[in-house]
Amino acid sequence: MTGLLEVRAAIVTGAGRGIGRAIAESLVAEGASVIVADNGASIGGEDGDPKVANETAAALGKKAIAFADSVASPGAAKALVELAIKNFGGIDIVVNNAAILRDAFVFRADPRDWDAVIRNNLSAAFYLINAASAVMRDQGKTGRGGAGGYDWGRIVNIVSSAGLYGNLGQAAYASAKAGLFGLTRVTAMDLARAQITANAVAPFARTRVTDIIQPANDAQKSYKERALRIGAHHVANLVTALCSPAGKAITGQLLGVRGREVFLFGQPRPVARIEAGASLAQDLSAKLSDKFTDLTTDLEAFNTEPLV
Ligand SMILES: NC(=O)c1ccc[n+]([C@@H]2O[C@H](COP(=O)([O-])OP(=O)(O)OC[C@H]3O[C@@H](n4cnc5c(N)ncnc54)[C@H](O)[C@@H]3O)[C@@H](O)[C@H]2O)c1
Repeated sequence: MTGLLEVRAAIVTGAGRGIGRAIAESLVAEGASVIVADNGASIGGEDGDPKVANETAAALGKKAIAFADSVASPGAAKALVELAIKNFGGIDIVVNNAAILRDAFVFRADPRDWDAVIRNNLSAAFYLINAASAVMRDQGKTGRGGAGGYDWGRIVNIVSSAGLYGNLGQAAYASAKAGLFGLTRVTAMDLARAQITANAVAPFARTRVTDIIQPANDAQKSYKERALRIGAHHVANLVTALCSPAGKAITGQLLGVRGREVFLFGQPRPVARIEAGASLAQDLSAKLSDKFTDLTTDLEAFNTEPLV
């Protein structure tokens, strides 16, 4: 413990358990005050339980307070920011980590599940960034940053390799996570002048979600065995590093973390160019196919030995 975040205030969504809890623990260990925002829902987002946030906040000690409602509404986002201002005098760090899963093949999925996942995993992050960043920008003007100006603002969105590669049956989840990447980029741009950073982190760690993977083949079986060996504290280390003073120049980036490995992902840019002519349909295959991206799923791409 070095007290790097001694005077900072954070909101971590989904902090009652799993990766979010590890992040909240790490921020508190560095001296930050943290709102543990978690409605204690099932993996599918049903059956909330306020004990999840309350017990985690109690275990984290005096610097943590619980918020046990769902974060997936503009009103909840506003309430969270007001809670931070009332208890901690402001807000410096936002970690959008809460997520639910309702997997189904695109040809079977229920549109109501799509709506629930997008609202919970993508819109909720926008609501909170929207409410918190307005306050963060103003803090710069009111001197919360001290004489050097306000360069403390940190936003971290927890995404997923499923949103980058895709995975079978995860249309809603992958779309929400891909959307969260777009939100991260624009947030980084909109807040650059205010010296507030925004980054996306794709984690790999053992949680209740990896515990319930039902392997459908040998590759998935070995993926699961590997995933179960990876502690969530590694994700927390990376998020805490991004929130530390040394993270102030890192923004708009897409990182991954799997045990002690930290990845910097490339971001989509044109990889080839042709001029459209009369034979465009033929040219697409003839001139570009060697550059096409294949349909490797994220489980296949990361089914290698982790560094634990
Ligand atoms: N575990 C992994 O390997 C892995 C891989 C890729 C991405 N992720 C991402 O990491 C994050 C954390 O995942 P996890 O594995 O710890 O999951 P988890 O289910 O253990 O934890 C998620 C927490 O979010 C809470 N939550 C969900 N919706 C909420 C809402 N509307 N309001 C308040 N709280 C809510 C849940 O109650 C739960 O405690 C998620 O964004 C997930 O998509 C995890």
